Amino acid sequence: MRVWDLYVRVVHWLLAIAVLLAWATREGWGLWHDWLGYAALALTAARLLWGWFGPKHARFGNFLYGPLHTLAYARSFLTAAAPRYLGHNPLGGWMIVALLAGVAATSATGWLYTTETYWGIEWVGTLHKWCANALLALAALHVAGVAAACFRHRENLVAAMIHGRKRTPGPNDIV
Ligand code: HEM
Ligand code: HEM
Repeated sequence: MRVWDLYVRVVHWLLAIAVLLAWATREGWGLWHDWLGYAALALTAARLLWGWFGPKHARFGNFLYGPLHTLAYARSFLTAAAPRYLGHNPLGGWMIVALLAGVAATSATGWLYTTETYWGIEWVGTLHKWCANALLALAALHVAGVAAACFRHRENLVAAMIHGRKRTPGPNDIV
């Protein structure tokens, strides 16, 4: 059944491409780097809006769970008893928040470094680099988490993020 709407899918892949290209252009690409970072920031803002106004599975309220529920899911993930979520699972949900915050912090510090007041101030440049490194580490963890969830639930989640459809939920799945 259809789970990810077109908006979620297009924003996801454009965001991933913008972040990876911003990383690839980090040295010697001049304004290309800045504009790719701004594109990533704009896509993050677009995704945030959808988190409140989008359809059911795009909403933050649908996939952000409290700490106890998230911890219980993390524990169960190590066993075959982990419940399958039709939308994002609790760990994936918090990873989404971390990734969006990471893009916002990286682009904001990058922009700060281009302003008249902060240009050339070493700690701003260093902060920007550290934010970018943390963002890339989060993205790697995100891809590893996706791979683990694919394995745990015997389901191709990457294909689902492309065509939008997932297996119809069973009686124990959380919709
Ligand atoms: C810097 C790169 C990336 C960023 C910033 C990023 C960010 C995100 C975000 C924000 C979501 C939530 C989607 C939504 O509800 O709107 C998501 C989900 C997802 N991403 Fe990425 N992503 C990146 C790279 C990738 C890559 C390379 C893959 C391919 C392996 C991937 C596969 C997925 C999948 C399968 C989901 C859905 C997970 C689920 O079923 O719950 N992402 N990602
Ligand atoms: C997701 C978005 C972004 C990523 C992943 C990213 C990543 C990076 C990285 C890794 C560096 C360090 C390059 C080096 O090794 O010297 C860098 C430098 C830089 N970035 Fe970004 N960046 C992003 C967004 C932006 C934005 C939006 C701007 C400005 C509008 C910007 C402006 C700069 C500038 C001016 C430098 C040079 C800093 C220096 O010389 O030390 N970046 N960026």
